Amino acid sequence: MNRFDEIINRRETNSVKWNTKEMFGDEEILPMWVADMDFPAPAEVIEAIKNRADHGIFGYTMPGEGTEKAIRSWLKNRHHWEIEENILTYSPGIVTAISMAIQTYTGPEDKIVVQPPVYYPFFEMAKKHKREVLYNELLLNEHHRYEINFDDLEAKLADPNTKMFILCNPHNPGGRVWSKEELTKIGELCLKHEVLIISDDIHSDLLLFGNEYTPIASISKEIAENTITCIAPSKTFNLAGLQASALIIPNASLRRKFNSTLQLHGLFGLNTLGTDAMEAAYKHGNDWLDELITYLEENVTEVENIINEKLPQLNVMRPESTYLIWIDARSLHKTDDEIKELLYKKGKLALEPGSKFGENGAGFLRMNIACPKETLQEGLKRLVHALT
Ligand SMILES: Cc1ncc(COP(=O)(O)O)c(C=O)c1O
Repeated sequence: MNRFDEIINRRETNSVKWNTKEMFGDEEILPMWVADMDFPAPAEVIEAIKNRADHGIFGYTMPGEGTEKAIRSWLKNRHHWEIEENILTYSPGIVTAISMAIQTYTGPEDKIVVQPPVYYPFFEMAKKHKREVLYNELLLNEHHRYEINFDDLEAKLADPNTKMFILCNPHNPGGRVWSKEELTKIGELCLKHEVLIISDDIHSDLLLFGNEYTPIASISKEIAENTITCIAPSKTFNLAGLQASALIIPNASLRRKFNSTLQLHGLFGLNTLGTDAMEAAYKHGNDWLDELITYLEENVTEVENIINEKLPQLNVMRPESTYLIWIDARSLHKTDDEIKELLYKKGKLALEPGSKFGENGAGFLRMNIACPKETLQEGLKRLVHALT
């Protein structure tokens, strides 16, 4: 049996994903929505947490040299990206970090560019800070793959009030791993128009089907100095509840400003268990991740096969990264409410409605396939039942 085949009951564990009674009013619903996995973390991570639990003292904790070393080695070995020492800082989560970056680097008159359909906290956080959001909508090409509208992007970056661009690399949803050429163009446009890049690379370890990831900050020193890269072990190793993530900020002045905002919020350390888990994951997670990626690729293929056979009116966008499948259901000509009614009530299945990710996400569905194959098959059965 494959280690990822094991079904572990997550109900009654305070799991957000599995608390379907509260979220959708029905405990029978199978959750394939929010982005966490139904797999346990690597054994070495669990061991590190147990060791810390046995130690028994959970006082204030700060990631130290060991954590930094583990992260730097991971980036070097896994992504061929060598970062300097002492340029990391930490945050409980990436959404928290994005919110703090908006607060730190933009003012009330400033505008922020995002690329919908995109992970919705990008524009929601900007709006909560009362910043104006400019939407550089992604375009679907003839191969049903998202591309960047660079003319529109440049027009939006050239607005004198645009101060920040939030990049999602790899992109959620849609799963694009942006190419070096695309990223170079983005990086140079942001330099030209003096727009700071926040690059959310939380999905960058989950590369499928041989796709390769380029960190935008690895392209040139100038771009690195104008970029804050957000990384985390949370998606890769399923540690979101431990709340530990890292920011790579090569520019000393930007780093100082960010650290001041952390202090402003009383955030000067990290969760004790999260710190140990992060370090163990980056130190020991390599082989586990390779196995996970193979399993996820099989799950993607299974979704493609079943949908192509049983729901040919839908169009599955094959992800280049991560475990979130973006499904084009526009041909059903249903409103979000109608789709939700069919999925939740008839199918007893929770997927994310595409409109959450921006107006051009309407008519799409996002399905989380990071689950054992048996659960995936049950989810697909429910999807077919809901939509036929
Ligand atoms: C692109 C992206 N950024 C950030 C997050 C959440 O990060 P965190 O839990 O660290 O706030 C997610 C979760 O799905 C995501 O997809």
